[in-house]
Amino acid sequence: MNLTSHRIVLRLSLLLLLVSAAPLMAQETARLSIDASKSGAKIDRNLFGQFAENLGHGLYEGIWVGPDSSIPNTRGIRKDVVDALRELKVPDVRWPGGCFADEYHWRKGVGPAGARPATLNSTWGGVIDTNAFGTDEFMDFLEQIDSRPYVSVNVGSGTPQEAAEWLEYMTAAAPTALEKERAANGHPAPYTVAMMGIGNESWSCGGDMTADYYLSQLKIYSHFVRNMNPAQQEKNRMLKIAVGPGFPETDWTEAVMKAWKQHDWSWDMDGLSVHWYTTPGGWPLSMPSTGFSTADYMKTLKSTLFMDDFLRKQEEVMDRYDPQKKIALVVDEWGGWYAALPGTNKDFLLQQNSIRDALLASLNLNIFARHADRVRGANIAQMINVIQSMILTDKEKMVLTPTYYVYRMYVPFQDATFIPVDFDPGTVHRDDVTLPRVDAIAARDTNGKLWIEITNLDPEKSLSIDAGINGLKAASAKGETLTAPAVDSVNTFAAPGTVVPKPISATVKDGRLTLTVEPKSVTVLAIEP
Ligand code: AHR
Repeated sequence: MNLTSHRIVLRLSLLLLLVSAAPLMAQETARLSIDASKSGAKIDRNLFGQFAENLGHGLYEGIWVGPDSSIPNTRGIRKDVVDALRELKVPDVRWPGGCFADEYHWRKGVGPAGARPATLNSTWGGVIDTNAFGTDEFMDFLEQIDSRPYVSVNVGSGTPQEAAEWLEYMTAAAPTALEKERAANGHPAPYTVAMMGIGNESWSCGGDMTADYYLSQLKIYSHFVRNMNPAQQEKNRMLKIAVGPGFPETDWTEAVMKAWKQHDWSWDMDGLSVHWYTTPGGWPLSMPSTGFSTADYMKTLKSTLFMDDFLRKQEEVMDRYDPQKKIALVVDEWGGWYAALPGTNKDFLLQQNSIRDALLASLNLNIFARHADRVRGANIAQMINVIQSMILTDKEKMVLTPTYYVYRMYVPFQDATFIPVDFDPGTVHRDDVTLPRVDAIAARDTNGKLWIEITNLDPEKSLSIDAGINGLKAASAKGETLTAPAVDSVNTFAAPGTVVPKPISATVKDGRLTLTVEPKSVTVLAIEP
């Protein structure tokens, strides 16, 4: 073969290579179909609730720095955190636990700061608890972020009387001794208590109870622990949430729902709490929150999608006893839970938060939205410095996590009406794991505007979106998209802008919205007429 024919062969092989590789390189298209004339359940704003346990630096340092701190604060509550949380329109905050709730004695956390006893936080690390952040500070914090309380009362080591007195302290308007005590502590008006959890994980850290034993407690607490706020007797009633399972089995749910079906006038409940964490690799936790591989990303997202089955199984039981869906399912603990950051106190559950967690959040929020007829509350664990948090702090420093940005992007979905989206999710296969390539939800907000969320799960490839929109005049779309350079990209105090949303827009022509979404991204768009 001479030089010229050699070159021809080389060119031909190159051409062949390019032609055969073309289908692999071509960007895939996901076709969505949205009929805005159809509607589903209301996406209750309580699905975007938060959880703040007395654990590690979740409350102390994360929220409470004390009035004498050099960190800017309002009555001891840090201003930077309040400003950030206000943007999320947090519907409710669950407090003081978690497992901690069943060892919390509220009296130690009221009254003059200097007179409060130091106690041990035996649940989380055995550290000293000054009790400086108690009921009135929690309520002050909620007022500052414009949110509402979801208090968990102590069933494990407390008494019905203690819980009843706590509710009286918080809600009484009549001049009882406890009402006067609250007034003397600076709050004459009764607080509004939106939700009350009766125990926490009572089958485990909350007292290792059988379902029957728990039911005997539930009935007593439900009857005797009263909200006395006159403004909450008819409208805005406090919701009573019973303990449900933190495991896929349904026998606990069966027992509680069966008892509820037969309940008499003396007790009732409005919701059943379930806990389900994403713990890839199981216990003890070994999955890192930083410096992980694409295989870990795939494994984690695969694991989180189990939430759908988990809810479905519980719902099947609830539907049998409560076909009218009076009892809400409240996923009041969920999130990606990984190994604690090296060098930190393992009991403080401190982990980083990456673009992987942003996708994990969007996938779960979408699952909740699809179950919105029954799932009417959810509280991500936990708000600050603990597990999958919104915010990380270190003394005077603060950084917003990718999960924070997802919550901010989803604000328009609060109390919006679910609109079904038809699509073939396709698949993405890597490292022996197969995931759906895309996820999407749509909803009409309270002003009638249509919003679409699109999650591209593919860690490497962009995705073309071709969405047909019917039943609505649509000319353009604009919103925000969140992605990152790598699957394990995080925001740090030194580099807080690595994973932040950027604007995105698209045109809608002949009822079709077309755009490209980046790999491992979360996109929220408003459809403009
Ligand atoms: O969120 C951390 C812990 O996880 C909670 O205290 C407990 O309820 C759950 O097991």
